[in-house]
Amino acid sequence: MWDKNKKKKVLVINGSPKNDRSSTMYITNAFLEGLKASCECDIEVINVHKLNFKPCTGCLSCWGRTEGECVIKNDDISIVKEKLLNADIIIESFPLFFFSMPGVLKSFTDRLLSMMLTYKGHKPPTNNESLHGLRYPDSDKRFVVISSCAYTEVDLVYDSVKAQFDFICGKGAYTPIFVPQIKTLVDVKNENKLNRFLKKFIDAGTYFNENGGLTDEIINDLSKPPFSEGAYKIFLSQFWQEEKDGKAS
Ligand SMILES: Cc1cc2nc3c(=O)[nH]c(=O)nc-3n(C[C@H](O)[C@H](O)[C@H](O)COP(=O)(O)O)c2cc1C
Repeated sequence: MWDKNKKKKVLVINGSPKNDRSSTMYITNAFLEGLKASCECDIEVINVHKLNFKPCTGCLSCWGRTEGECVIKNDDISIVKEKLLNADIIIESFPLFFFSMPGVLKSFTDRLLSMMLTYKGHKPPTNNESLHGLRYPDSDKRFVVISSCAYTEVDLVYDSVKAQFDFICGKGAYTPIFVPQIKTLVDVKNENKLNRFLKKFIDAGTYFNENGGLTDEIINDLSKPPFSEGAYKIFLSQFWQEEKDGKAS
């Protein structure tokens, strides 16, 4: 059972190539701040782009000969897998790249196939459960997906990300937080507006710990864009002009 008073191990998987400079991490850090306000937390951030790991070779031993174990042992994946297994809350934080997760994060995910049950030709479940099934199910563990994108229409552009996590984790078995326009909000350097926007993610972090999840209403609210259509167009035009002129930061 979810215990809001329990000290939590929180593992953040940061899939942005910008590592600590990731705009998505503004959201993730605000969410973490809210979590910390509600319970004692041990937080570790893993920057996937700084990990030493090889892509999956496709040998499928982790579903056969060495079931549950990847045969590649001399890189960082087995250490991260251990941390994933021990975490109370896993937060995957990444930018949307080509309407999907960034390639390096996908390579990282592929290396974790051993965490899923072996596929033996069963029919996909019709009750929204994980398609493969989790090898180490843990009803007390929580999984949060935080992603940001440039488009305003998160309902449209996150379709493939949603489908991917629905298949991997099971629909409703993770908390999706998809946020538009955040990079521009960071770029315009209006600290008051940024802080006002981030406040709802701090509150969401606190609510998450108190309740073990978020309501659909909160999730929808977190996806609302910070800028009006007109203002966003102006900021983007300015950004691309400055980029061409070599003035963009
Ligand atoms: C290679 C690449 C592909 C992108 N593809 C999309 C996309 O498909 N849809 C979108 O809305 N934004 C896209 N973006 C914009 C990023 O998702 C957005 O700027 C994000 O907030 C950056 O987050 P980060 O600072 O954490 O890396 C793309 C950016 C890059 C560099």
